[in-house]
Amino acid sequence: MDSSVFDGRRVAVAVGGGIAAYKACELVRTLRRASAEVRVVMTPAAQAFVTPLTLQSLSGHPVLTEPFDAASEAGFGHLALARWAELFVVAPATADLLARIRAGLANDAVTTALLAFPGPVLLAPAMNVAMWNNPLTQANVAALTAEARYRLVGPATGLLADGDSGPGRLAEVEAMVAACGELLGQGALAGRTVLVTAGPTREFLDPVRFLSNPSTGKMGLAMAQAARRRGAKVTVVLGPAGEVDRRGLEVQDVVTAEQMREAVLARVASVDFFVAAAAVSDWRPKERAPQKRKKGSASEAESLLLERTPDVLAEAAEAVRGLARRPVLVGFAAETEAVLENASAKLLRKGLDAIIANDVSAPDAGFAVDTNRVTVLTRGGTRLELSGTKVEVAERLWDFLLGPQAEPVRARR
Ligand code: CTP
Repeated sequence: MDSSVFDGRRVAVAVGGGIAAYKACELVRTLRRASAEVRVVMTPAAQAFVTPLTLQSLSGHPVLTEPFDAASEAGFGHLALARWAELFVVAPATADLLARIRAGLANDAVTTALLAFPGPVLLAPAMNVAMWNNPLTQANVAALTAEARYRLVGPATGLLADGDSGPGRLAEVEAMVAACGELLGQGALAGRTVLVTAGPTREFLDPVRFLSNPSTGKMGLAMAQAARRRGAKVTVVLGPAGEVDRRGLEVQDVVTAEQMREAVLARVASVDFFVAAAAVSDWRPKERAPQKRKKGSASEAESLLLERTPDVLAEAAEAVRGLARRPVLVGFAAETEAVLENASAKLLRKGLDAIIANDVSAPDAGFAVDTNRVTVLTRGGTRLELSGTKVEVAERLWDFLLGPQAEPVRARR
């Protein structure tokens, strides 16, 4: 299996209370060795078999054991875990735990986190053979797996810890890891390629001074990471944005608009989606002095001659126009007034499929804040308003871009 599917992926391991709980340790170790990030949540019964400290050492993070413990809620509580995880693995999934998950109970840390989690859940049952064969357990498993996001791995057949033999053994660690890999590689963007521009650009007037803007690349990186979580292969052409989450992304670092243009034009024709989220500097000094510019006389105004930088997005759109198979083109519009009018003019002028309009003068949107409030406009006239953290907005944007409402947008390709 391609182990890069785990690189930087966020897997929550939920441990139920059974003798097989010790195998969760090996599962956590193997996932981490494959470069996944792992956080563990345990039922009270699980803690009778394995200590939270063991799993804390193996996962590298405190283990969630209480749904409403003040200390863990302040740190990383059940809702934070549900938001963080891309995949939950329940191992071992005991008969009792399966029943409680099916019933929608939220009476311990595991079920509370699972109830808040909308993503894929891998269930690895382990129990006595009679308990597994019991029609109640079978009905619970059937009801859960009727929903596509619940998958089953195992149980394996063999000699059980209690001396019985038959189905009921926890699946081997390799089988659980392989099933995780499959689920992680199965997003709506599996096999697709996405190109994103993010961050500001710098346009130097001499070796030590430049024109730029306060972009931190957050929205672009949120779009890139959300695409990767859906299985896409993502390349980010990134201006100087400081520390960003590069896990699982191919990042091409650039500094100037011209470098961003070259990096984008080299790639755009071969991708499925191009998302231009960079805040490209619109002007650059007409000349770049080879040495540090000296100040003129203090009493006189000094001028700086500027020229326009290339419009990376417009050039990319031009470059792929007429291709038999061209990428879906998505731009952002940073506006401070007449937001929708200006954004829809940009959508048409640059030949885009969709534009995400952003009032950068609002306190909860725009540069260097974690939240955003946007309106998506498509060429077909669809309009959608979204708000939340940039990560949430990015998730909803991909839901939209991949959903039925955006079908006409994708059909233009
Ligand atoms: N963009 C780009 N290259 C530029 C300018 C903008 O690729 N030189 C892209 C941005 O990444 C964004 C979209 O074009 O996706 C719109 O950017 P924005 O700054 O809102 O608009 P501009 O085209 O620069 O127009 P204006 O500054 O006049 O509002």
